[in-house]
Parts: sequence; structure tokens; C-alpha cells
Amino acid sequence: MIELCASLLAADHAHIARDIAAAQACGIERFHVDVCDGHYARPIIFGDQLVERITSLSSAFFDVHLAVYHMASILETFIAAGPDMITVQYESCSDHLRLIDTIHASTMLAGICIVPETPVEEIEHLLSGVDAVNVLAVNPGIGGQPFQHSVLKKVEQLVKLRTQRGFTFRISVDGGVNERTITDVISAGADIAIAGSAIFSGSIEENVQRMLQCMQHTGG
Ligand code: DX5
Ligand code: ZN
Repeated sequence: MIELCASLLAADHAHIARDIAAAQACGIERFHVDVCDGHYARPIIFGDQLVERITSLSSAFFDVHLAVYHMASILETFIAAGPDMITVQYESCSDHLRLIDTIHASTMLAGICIVPETPVEEIEHLLSGVDAVNVLAVNPGIGGQPFQHSVLKKVEQLVKLRTQRGFTFRISVDGGVNERTITDVISAGADIAIAGSAIFSGSIEENVQRMLQCMQHTGG
């Protein structure tokens, strides 16, 4: 079954612990935390102190997505904040292997994330060394954008490559995921669906229940 992950970008930032607890009460055990620097991706969110606070408050799995320039200079700070995984934005940095090694040396999981325009071929050399590949279906940093269906070909390509080459990474799709688009995300073979506004706009409980029902109907 595909795992539903909640992206905190769309949560109420003044009541983030309340929203995390509400999503957890509905069965969500995985959260995506966008760190945007206002330069590579707007707006400026989330800081390491907030990440440290929310990871210490909750037993859930936290994936910190660094959508920033100058990643090497802040990586250790976010490692110290104690998430379970750190995902590196492929296009905003260059020394990917070193960043991934640093994350692994801290015993955390390491992911790589690509924007809709970036082909899988560009990250092929990194696939043996990552625990997750996040395929963005929107541009990073802004919630509520329309889902770009063209990225599903990359998910299918990643599934094939993983089987052929014996890789072990999990595949997530992030951005524009809602009760309509999740069906296609499941069909393409993703392991994790990351949703922000579809979970946090309105009633979290009703939204999550509807998403889980769609997932069950699709056999995800
Ligand atoms: C994009 C983020 C997504 C975003 C998704 O940078 O990684 O997680 O919050 O938001 P929705 O689900 O509203 O498109
Ligand atoms: Zn993200």
C-alpha cells in the first residue's frame, strides 16, 4: 500500500503541533518539511529550531527537504535538528555525493529531489546511494499548484531502473497530489504520496479519510 505523507507547507504554521497531532490521529505517520531559503525557492520556511521542536514533540517520521542554495553550509544544522531523513534538492547544489555521505554519516536516511523539468538520467549516478527519490510534480516552495502529469513517466522509469539494477530507494511524488491525482500516482508505482493542501485545507480528518478511501479503491 502506498504511504500518505503530509507536507507541512500547507499546515497552519501558527498551530503546527496541533495540525501534526490531528494528522497523526488519522493515521499519518510521515511528514514532509520544506526548508526554503527565499532564493532558490520561496517563501522563507522552515528554520532548524522549528524542525528540532517538532521532531522532539512527535514520534512520527520527518523528512526535511532542503530547497536551498549553499546547502553544505546549513546541512549540519538540520542534521542536528534530528529529522529521520534529509532530502537534497538536486538542482540547487552541486556536490551531491558529499552531501549524501554527510547525511548517511549521521545515520539519517538521505533522499534526492528533482523538479518536473529534470530527467531521471541526470540523477542516475546517485540512485545506488540514496534511500528515496522525490519526484516533484510542481515547482518547489508553493502549495496548491496543479499536478503535472508528465512526471509520472519518470516514476515509471524509476520503478523499472530499481528492478533492473537492484536499487533499494523508495519513490515519492510531491505536489498537486489530491484525491483525484493520487489514483495516477499509485498506478505509476510510487511508494509515497506527499500532499499538502489536500490534507491541511479544511478538515484534516475528513481530507485524510477521503484520501485513504481513494487509495483503497485504487488498490494502492
Ligand atoms: C513543494 C513541496 C510540496 C508542497 C505540496 O516544494 O515540496 O510538498 O507543499 O503542496 P501541495 O500538495 O499543496 O501541492
Ligand atoms: Zn518539499
